[in-house]
Amino acid sequence: MFKHKKVLISLCISAYLAISAFQISNIQRTFFKPEIPSNFPPPVYELKANPLTEEGIELGRTLFYDPILSSDGSTSCGSCHQQFAAFAHQDHPMSHGVDNQFGRRNALPLFNLLFSKTFFWDGGVHSLDFSPLNALENEVELNEQLDNVLKKLNDSEEYRDKFKKAFGVSEITSKVFLQSLTQFMATLVSANSRYDKFIRNEGGLLTAEEKEGLELFEQKCSSCHATGLFTDGSFRNNGVPNNYRFDKGREEITLNASDRGKYKVPSLRNIEFTAPYMHDGSISSLEKVLDHYTSGVEQSATLDPLLKQNNQPGLAITDPEKKKIIAFLMTLSDREFITDKRFSEPELFLNTPKPNEKNHSHTNNR
Ligand code: HEC
Ligand code: HEC
Repeated sequence: MFKHKKVLISLCISAYLAISAFQISNIQRTFFKPEIPSNFPPPVYELKANPLTEEGIELGRTLFYDPILSSDGSTSCGSCHQQFAAFAHQDHPMSHGVDNQFGRRNALPLFNLLFSKTFFWDGGVHSLDFSPLNALENEVELNEQLDNVLKKLNDSEEYRDKFKKAFGVSEITSKVFLQSLTQFMATLVSANSRYDKFIRNEGGLLTAEEKEGLELFEQKCSSCHATGLFTDGSFRNNGVPNNYRFDKGREEITLNASDRGKYKVPSLRNIEFTAPYMHDGSISSLEKVLDHYTSGVEQSATLDPLLKQNNQPGLAITDPEKKKIIAFLMTLSDREFITDKRFSEPELFLNTPKPNEKNHSHTNNR
């Protein structure tokens, strides 16, 4: 069911790209150029097909925080992607949405998406434009049909007006709806941590301990958590014990058993704010993540060879070294990003009650 939906989504993508070139508008818009940090690789997203405008970004932000996107008006994108948690879902091993139902995987943080080739833990979606569809139609997330969302939006004079100003259209179609969410998400660039200011010579300083941590990180971690993005975008099995009947990882997309238990290497930026960790949220702290890499790595047919030494699973890292690596990881926190008012919930929703903020249960942490 899930897989078929993904195939359908990719078919829609082709049709959609074919028509996106013909968007005509004589409306005055203010174009916005996203900042591309000098320590990042070039962006992947085709901004030419969806040029960012102030109007489009603001509209995307409004939609991102509007529970109108969920079937029962209880949940918005912002319920699971919280700014203070770098747009991950803090303290939730498995994100939950409508009716407090639990999903299967830990919500990914949202930042630097412009630079991402694939989306989701298993890389099942290839375009940022289509990544909201999964959440929208997933019965435990927003549990809503795209058609119905479009109907609700078209019924709102306010939204019709905003879409006209942002895209010059009189009818809200799936294309402009998805493009506006992308426009907001494209502005979520996080590149102003103390580490960035150190590496770009902008006055950021690292302590001796943090510098030693950086060196250890380069020896033991950066072959996967690579580049200024802190991920090489590949899919790998890092030995997190996994129940394959419940979640096969990348294999669910490629149908290839050699991809069993492989997940997209996540960025480690803002890792201080995004606990719990791993695709299933099974590790609750960075100390435990480091313990995982030394003594918790599970042997399996698809375990990444980089995580084996002398044929034994796991990396050799001493306790003092672990402390230094964690000290370094803390320099990747971008507090400007998590407090930037341009990304926060617009005033208009701040007083709406959120049924989902109640009855949280936190299980599954090791
Ligand atoms: C109920 C919680 C929930 C809601 C609501 C939700 N998401 Fe997510 N989101 C997730 C989870 C969980 C994942 C990871 C799923 C996976 O990898 O299988 C995710 C992944 C994503 C990703 C992929 C990020 C990456 O780096 O690969 C994007 C983009 C995204 N969501 C955008 C949105 C948008 C836009 C909305 C609103 C339309 C939304 N989400 C609503 C839980 C949620
Ligand atoms: C062989 C590649 C590889 C190496 C080497 C590696 N990692 Fe990972 N890392 C991964 C993958 C893949 C995941 C996601 C696994 C999952 O979710 O099941 C991950 C997840 C993580 C997470 C959780 C991130 C999140 O958002 O949930 C942290 C923290 C982390 N790694 C830190 C490190 C540190 C520190 C090192 C070095 C000691 C390291 N990793 C070495 C591949 C690697």
